[in-house]
Amino acid sequence: MSYLENIKTAVIKENAVILAIESSCDETAASVIRGGREILSSVISTSMSEHVRFGGVVPEIASRAHTSYISKTVEKAVLEAGITLSDLDVIAVTYGSGLIGALLVGVSYAKALAYSLNIPLVPVSHIRGHVSAGYLSSKELKPPFICLLASGGHTAIIEVKDYYTYNVLGGTLDDAAGEAFDKVARVLGLEYPGGPNIERLAREGSNVIELPKMLKGKKGYDFSYSGLKTAVINYCHQKVQKGEDFNKADVACSFQCSAIDVLVEKTLNALKDKGFKVLSVGGGVAANGYLREKLEKECKKRGYTLVLPEKKLCTDNACMIGAEGYLQYLNGNFAGLDLNAQAFVKL
Ligand code: KG4
Ligand code: ZN
Repeated sequence: MSYLENIKTAVIKENAVILAIESSCDETAASVIRGGREILSSVISTSMSEHVRFGGVVPEIASRAHTSYISKTVEKAVLEAGITLSDLDVIAVTYGSGLIGALLVGVSYAKALAYSLNIPLVPVSHIRGHVSAGYLSSKELKPPFICLLASGGHTAIIEVKDYYTYNVLGGTLDDAAGEAFDKVARVLGLEYPGGPNIERLAREGSNVIELPKMLKGKKGYDFSYSGLKTAVINYCHQKVQKGEDFNKADVACSFQCSAIDVLVEKTLNALKDKGFKVLSVGGGVAANGYLREKLEKECKKRGYTLVLPEKKLCTDNACMIGAEGYLQYLNGNFAGLDLNAQAFVKL
């Protein structure tokens, strides 16, 4: 009997202990989750400092770093959970979307471990993981609800119909929200990743520079960030060419307001139009303080329930992979040893 044939007969446990592994970008992360919603440990090793001088993640450097961090990261997650490998019921791993070489490290490691422990291996979509972060933050959260997902690679308003069925109401037509933060940060001379650095600088500035409002006020739930990004870049270049001083903090603040206000407006429209009362958020941009405050205020005003996962559950982590992995496990979505990494996976 092959590994997969044997595993398919595994009894599904409601309180399963899952080891989750995430390696889609520059974070090598491992976490132990019990019963899908209880975090027993979360460990993140990052190669971020090695990418800073290049202004973005260098795939080969990330892959090499994953190779050197993965064993220690997993060992630490198991140790901090107060368990041993033999207590694990499932291994969940991000198989896409992401950097292919980076993903391969996590997938290969997860396959070897699942095979040696003779337990199920569950493939997890990174984007679905971001949505499932909400289940860790609120034990009460259950579908249907609306999820605003905003990360470095994705921006979407999703109708979560049930634990498995998503309907994407709208998304970005060009750059992702996080990508726009990173590109604008670069123009302002701020280090990668741009989001947290723009947020910090924006606190010292005011929203005084007129910038395009993208698809604000238009029907539908789509976004477009490339016009806003270009407007900021042009503003800065023109000032430099004319030899005029400009206030970088004002640029950061004006950009942040433009970028976030439209996310909030379209999300609130989706809730109202579709008759939803519960909103959850996910992805690195959801760690943005201005976005969080604005959503809190607007949801309170309208009597909506807002699930705001802790900032460390919004940016890349393995806990969210464990939460989503649990759902896939309950559904018997097991992978064989032929599981491969994929640069792009559909939601
Ligand atoms: O979800 P994530 O950690 O990785 C991806 O799946 O992409 O998101 C990373 C993105 C980066 O573009 C980063 O600049 C942005 O999220 N980000 C933020 C903040 N923290 C991270 N953007 C705005 N404000 C933040 N505080
Ligand atoms: Zn992510």
